[in-house]
Amino acid sequence: MMIAAHSLEKGMSIGRVKVGFGKNKALALIEDLKYYMTIGGDISFVGNVCSILLSYIKFNEELGADMSDVKFSLDELSSIYPLSVSPNGGVLVQSDLEIKKTLDSSFDIFSQSRFSIRDFGNDPLNLELVKKSLKLCERTPSACNRQSWRIHVYTDKNEREKLFSLQGGCKGFFEEMQCAILICGDMSLYNINEIHQVYVDGGLYAMNLLYALHYHGLATIPLTMGHKARKIKDIKRSMSIGDQEVPILLIGVGTCKHGTYRVAVSHRYDFNKYTTFQ
Ligand SMILES: Cc1cc2nc3c(=O)[nH]c(=O)nc-3n(C[C@H](O)[C@H](O)[C@H](O)COP(=O)(O)O)c2cc1C
Repeated sequence: MMIAAHSLEKGMSIGRVKVGFGKNKALALIEDLKYYMTIGGDISFVGNVCSILLSYIKFNEELGADMSDVKFSLDELSSIYPLSVSPNGGVLVQSDLEIKKTLDSSFDIFSQSRFSIRDFGNDPLNLELVKKSLKLCERTPSACNRQSWRIHVYTDKNEREKLFSLQGGCKGFFEEMQCAILICGDMSLYNINEIHQVYVDGGLYAMNLLYALHYHGLATIPLTMGHKARKIKDIKRSMSIGDQEVPILLIGVGTCKHGTYRVAVSHRYDFNKYTTFQ
């Protein structure tokens, strides 16, 4: 349900979205929510999903789609349970000028202004900014300072689009990204008892790189490399990645759109929900 809701939210943040997209998914999701509530589901989660659905309906109606069936089903659900539905779910409208102002701010402001972008600008990407970002990331910490990350940068249109297509999670916007950065980790630097450490070190690197690219004013999106073993093998072969490397994360990079564009809200839990103080 979380994934289905997020895919609707994501859909709304793609620049060239199809009118009325995802209707069957929305209807199936509402049915799942109804069932989930009958088995004692978490009402605040359902409220959050309904906020996304509400904004999804409004978004499509504004584009001219008939959403009456989705609306009917959602009304049915919200008439039974006292859901707390926010009118601000789904997507946020951002402006490049507002975001630019945050880039030189202190970390509390800067870090809150990074969002995954699925609607990119047409200005050509300056590779020097990517290099400057990679330079900043040399300082990423790693277990025993192994620095096991291996970074593959693809700017050639055919190469980057081949990789984006194989990755499969950026349909509808991959043509707008001008660079693909594949973060891999070198497994040969770890012993058999620490096979997951490569993902920890690579994950720290990846987050650092997302911030560094954001700092340099580039628009980014992390793209999963969590695929079946056969698919990973196929990606590695197609992109000539060494046998000892494991793909950790793909980052799609582009330039910022001028003016306004939409980003998915991706609601976050309050930290108290998952933190304990001893
Ligand atoms: C490991 C990882 C894999 C992701 N894979 C995808 C993906 O394949 N396609 C996509 O559109 N977004 C993907 N995302 C982006 C998430 O949807 C996004 O980070 C999340 O909703 C939080 O939103 P934010 O990045 O705007 O803060 C991925 C993010 C992470 C961290």
